[in-house]
Amino acid sequence: MGKLAWTPDMYVGVKEIDEQHAELTGIINELYDAYMENRDYDVLADLINKVNDYAQKHFAAERRYMAPYIDEMPNYEEHMEQHREFFSSAVNFLLEYLEKGSGITPELLDYLTDWWFKHINGTDKVMGAVLKSKGVE
Ligand SMILES: [Fe+2]
Ligand SMILES: [Fe+2]
Repeated sequence: MGKLAWTPDMYVGVKEIDEQHAELTGIINELYDAYMENRDYDVLADLINKVNDYAQKHFAAERRYMAPYIDEMPNYEEHMEQHREFFSSAVNFLLEYLEKGSGITPELLDYLTDWWFKHINGTDKVMGAVLKSKGVE
């Protein structure tokens, strides 16, 4: 699906999570641009490391927010499974590029952007609604 447009309807309603979504959307778009513009290995490697580091930090933050309300999250297990899938189906392939210097494809980047967009608008919004109902801002 190509680059992501950050729009206000992607907000899930928790400030730190929304800020992280906007930030990681920006990094993913930078990676997409860099790949399309055939940028050097160093540029792509730096962005891949940023996606990996930032995604780990972000998923840890979501776990921390959900921790007190796990029993009330209708999709907690599925949510955790989707986060694992993001690494096994997308980020791990990007990390292979760091060793091999090849292997990134438009399909992989499409999968990554598509996953990110759908996850925020589906799973993360369900989480956001529960957190908001608990008064989390
Ligand atoms: Fe998220
Ligand atoms: Fe999530």
